[in-house]
Amino acid sequence: MKRILVTGGTGFIGSHTVVELQNSGYEVIIIDNLSNSKAEVVDNIEKITGIRPVFEQLDCCDLEGLDALFTKYAGIEAIIHFAASKAVGESVEKPLKYYRNNIVSLVNLLELMPKHNVKGIVFSSSCTVYGQPDVLPVTEAAPTKVAESPYGNTKQINEEIICDTVKSGSPVEAIMLRYFNPIGAHPTALIGELPLGVPQNLLPYVTQTAMGIRECLSVFGDDYDTPDGSCIRDYIYVVDLAKAHVKAIDRILNKQMAQNPEVFNLGTGRGLSVLELINEFEAATGVKLNYKIVGRRAGDIVKVWANPERANNVLGWSADTPIRDVLASAWKWQQKLREDGIM
Ligand code: UFG
Repeated sequence: MKRILVTGGTGFIGSHTVVELQNSGYEVIIIDNLSNSKAEVVDNIEKITGIRPVFEQLDCCDLEGLDALFTKYAGIEAIIHFAASKAVGESVEKPLKYYRNNIVSLVNLLELMPKHNVKGIVFSSSCTVYGQPDVLPVTEAAPTKVAESPYGNTKQINEEIICDTVKSGSPVEAIMLRYFNPIGAHPTALIGELPLGVPQNLLPYVTQTAMGIRECLSVFGDDYDTPDGSCIRDYIYVVDLAKAHVKAIDRILNKQMAQNPEVFNLGTGRGLSVLELINEFEAATGVKLNYKIVGRRAGDIVKVWANPERANNVLGWSADTPIRDVLASAWKWQQKLREDGIM
């Protein structure tokens, strides 16, 4: 059984990816510092797959700790690196926290990989590297734009660190996955997104408003240059996204990479406006959403959606779960949180 290290494996995308890796026959070692997730996620992963992944509470900034982990679990063949701080607004307030967490973690992993014979790394990047693209849908060839936030900058810098490391002759293979907007939860409602405090992202705010935890959703702007005036994004189901990581790991371990590093856009190829998403949510759940139009949010991209053809053709992957099923899964998860008395 091939052994894969998943950093940030108790987080939102990480936990869904652990499930898909186990379902595909991989053995998973999770590390997470639990700064934004809970250890009970491991129990829920076990409930879904019937297999308990190894879990160690560890911070990727801890070089000695990581070194010891690779020795303890000898034979790790590849890494999926999710662990990172990800709040755009907080990164503006605390840039050094973001530069330390997000950059030192990757540097540590890349340094240790050759020593412990780890062949490859899959890195969580973001469509944020494209800023507002000049051409839509956006392909991987689109130029990167100056980052809007320290968070976005860490994704760009990390991609550059990977490129430079590979160029230097390090025996490391890397795939960088640029996610569009991941949403939804596992169909079992055993794992999902658990935002701390007031959600900054659209979907958790929508489901919390539907639940009555928030009074009213603010739609940030309806005067943009889009058909209905609200911003457009490419919302991708987290389970579809998780499956792409398994394909990326297969590709590295089966030595199928055509170049090094490789980069893939992970999106559906379809853009949805904020107002369209609200309509779809109401249709999917039968719940009427209380919302109002307010002013624009600083730093928002107007419209972005993926051209996912490279991932479709090369990885043999596509994100095709219907949006209503995705939104229903998010609602089911929110209802489960209420049932369990979590929120
Ligand atoms: N929105 C609202 N009301 C809200 C929250 C969001 O109208 O309460 C709107 C935003 O203005 C935007 C859309 O919903 O038009 C999506 O907003 P999100 O915050 O959910 O997602 P973003 O696309 O802004 O940000 C996401 C990730 C970031 C990443 C960024 C860049 O959260 O980590 O994509 O691709 F950096």
